[in-house]
Amino acid sequence: MKILAIETSCDETAIAIVEATGDEANAEFAVLGNALLSQIDLHREYGGVYPMLAKREHAKNLVPILEAALEEAELLHEDMQAMREETRDKIAEILSREPGLTEAFLDFVSESERPDIDVIAVTAGPGLEPALWVGVNFARALALAWEKPIVAVNHMEGHIMAALARESSSRSNLEVKDVALPVLALLISGGHTELVVMKSWLEYELVGATRDDAVGEAFDKVARMLSLPYPGGPEISRLAEIARSSVSKVEPYSSNEEGSTLLTPTLPRPMLNDATCDFSFAGLKTAVLYLLKKNPEVTEREKHELAREFEDAVAEVLWKKTERALEATGAETLVIGGGVSANTHIRRIFKHSVATRVDTRCPPVELRIPPAALTTDNAIMIALAGFYRALREEFTHTPVASGRRSLTE
Ligand code: KG4
Ligand code: ZN
Repeated sequence: MKILAIETSCDETAIAIVEATGDEANAEFAVLGNALLSQIDLHREYGGVYPMLAKREHAKNLVPILEAALEEAELLHEDMQAMREETRDKIAEILSREPGLTEAFLDFVSESERPDIDVIAVTAGPGLEPALWVGVNFARALALAWEKPIVAVNHMEGHIMAALARESSSRSNLEVKDVALPVLALLISGGHTELVVMKSWLEYELVGATRDDAVGEAFDKVARMLSLPYPGGPEISRLAEIARSSVSKVEPYSSNEEGSTLLTPTLPRPMLNDATCDFSFAGLKTAVLYLLKKNPEVTEREKHELAREFEDAVAEVLWKKTERALEATGAETLVIGGGVSANTHIRRIFKHSVATRVDTRCPPVELRIPPAALTTDNAIMIALAGFYRALREEFTHTPVASGRRSLTE
């Protein structure tokens, strides 16, 4: 089955073409084409992602990205296509809310051969709703022009499948096989902090979630307090790694007030010892704010130490809650997914903790972490999740974008 997958939930415009074989228990994926355009440089100027700006950029980029993905997959062939007036009108209507896209789209489909693909997969949420709608409407227009079915994909299921996938030996392929259930997924991104269990394939239950900020949001906000550019996660990570690798011992200021100096900052570990698998990151963010208010002049070295302590606090809480969820669910596979799972320190803590975990009450657990290129938003993960939905024949002509689409409702 050849899948063309479209991802526009946030600030990445991405299209991938993936050939999938096998079944739910044993699937292989060959990536035939993969094109991605990040809007990060644009949003960086504004210090965050603006949904309407993201939407406009997706509308501008989708046709060129589609051409690039098809070309890489050797599926782009020039050919004049006759299109019925009625189809043309319908497409114009579907794309009427995406200014500028209609003309580029109609030019493209009337000048190129219908590609040999079987299904179109599109991210329908969660994410930024205006951004999601561009992708969804684009998928609807393509489905109409090419007479192909659509599957609507949950973005978080995409992150889970990317984490379950392993690079296989042959070509540039991925495989999802030998997955021991239940799977526990820690999903950490700009909008999500959730522990979800998959007891049977594609059926999810919520085990824990953040009560306030998502962890990626906390990274981004703390980065802003430290005058670091957007997105803050990678910046904090970079500074924290400098602090960890620094050989010179930090000389603490003399102070009798805990957490009041920036060279030896101590931040709280919110909800670390409560009985739930829930998280809270707002207090951690506020603690950084107070510390900076008390110490308005921050040296570079103090920034590094603060970034390190912040990352230590986040990683400790994430692991502790995940460990509790492993006990509660008896999970045999653990995955971490979402943009924050790119974080070097979190990956290191999880690998080390799983490897050294001794708990005779629980089965041993296999940790799967997504290959680096599949960690942040991309369309390959949408193709993977789309394959399973297509196997179940969950086809639709009218996918609905929803910013709050949940895996567990
Ligand atoms: O999954 P993702 O690409 O988009 C959403 O669906 O939200 O996640 C983006 C988030 C941002 O908050 C970004 O700061 C964070 O992931 N992030 C990181 C790292 N790389 C990206 N956070 C910590 N460390 C990183 N290396
Ligand atoms: Zn994401």
